Amino acid sequence: MNAPELITDPAAWQARCSAARDGGARITLVTTMGFLHDGHVSLLREARARADATGRKGLALATIFVNPAQFGPNEDLSRYPRDLEGDLAKCAAAGIDWVLAPSDPRMIFAPDHETWVTVERASEGLCGASRPGHFRGVATVVAKLFNLTRPHVALFGEKDFQQLAVIRAMVRDLAMGVEVVGMPIVREPDGLARSSRNSYLSPDERTRALAISRALREAAEAAGRGERDAAALRARARARLEEADARVDYVELVHPDSLAPVARADAGSVMLIAAHVGGTRLIDNVRLP
Ligand code: PAJ
Repeated sequence: MNAPELITDPAAWQARCSAARDGGARITLVTTMGFLHDGHVSLLREARARADATGRKGLALATIFVNPAQFGPNEDLSRYPRDLEGDLAKCAAAGIDWVLAPSDPRMIFAPDHETWVTVERASEGLCGASRPGHFRGVATVVAKLFNLTRPHVALFGEKDFQQLAVIRAMVRDLAMGVEVVGMPIVREPDGLARSSRNSYLSPDERTRALAISRALREAAEAAGRGERDAAALRARARARLEEADARVDYVELVHPDSLAPVARADAGSVMLIAAHVGGTRLIDNVRLP
């Protein structure tokens, strides 16, 4: 595989993307904060496949940017894991053409930044409740990355279910003209959802973190057997997490589009969990059968 071209200057990136698009290229984009794992790689591969499938000159592009705007004051911005060299190797193996990794975060998010994209309803509740300002930071920077890149298609993981809803609402409401594609959650062999933050877990925490995916799987199984009462499903999942000494942020059952809590689990309802294992906050979700 050819190494992707690394571009560190957002202005140069914008000029290149613009020229490519004007020249007829179809652009598929994956935005990440780096420290890439198999979940990211599934998005990168899909970007390559979609870029190749169009019959037009297809460009599969990725951005690596640890976005300061989406971290709260007491969150893990300064210790967020980084590995640009490893990330570029994974982008190369997935067939990514160009990677934007700004050499200085201020090139994307300057200290005098004063323009924000706030997606109101989709950002309420769930992670929005415990991480005030988080989705405003995500939406603002994803909007900026979209403006720099002007992709035809952008891929996002369903692991960050609320984030995907926020991006979809933003693209719809602001007529951004980007096709947003949601991709399935990639898991470790034992079920833990892949996440850059899994690298924070001690061996003991790594074992206890499994309670999250187990609780979700059990809820899906119970729903499959006919349990439809959301309160009962949530209580069982919460008990599972507490057994593993995980500090529950939320266990919710929601409608997949509106993210509104539901009292009865229907096919397609989504159970979402956020919980702290030791000092690490993890999220996961499952669509009920
Ligand atoms: P990051 O956490 O690096 O994730 C980048 C993309 O990979 C997101 O779309 C996320 O949903 C997806 N992803 C992460 N883990 C996954 C898994 N186990 N399976 C499938 N997809 C997975 O999400 C962000 O970065 C940032 O908020 C960003 C969108 C880049 C804006 O800064």
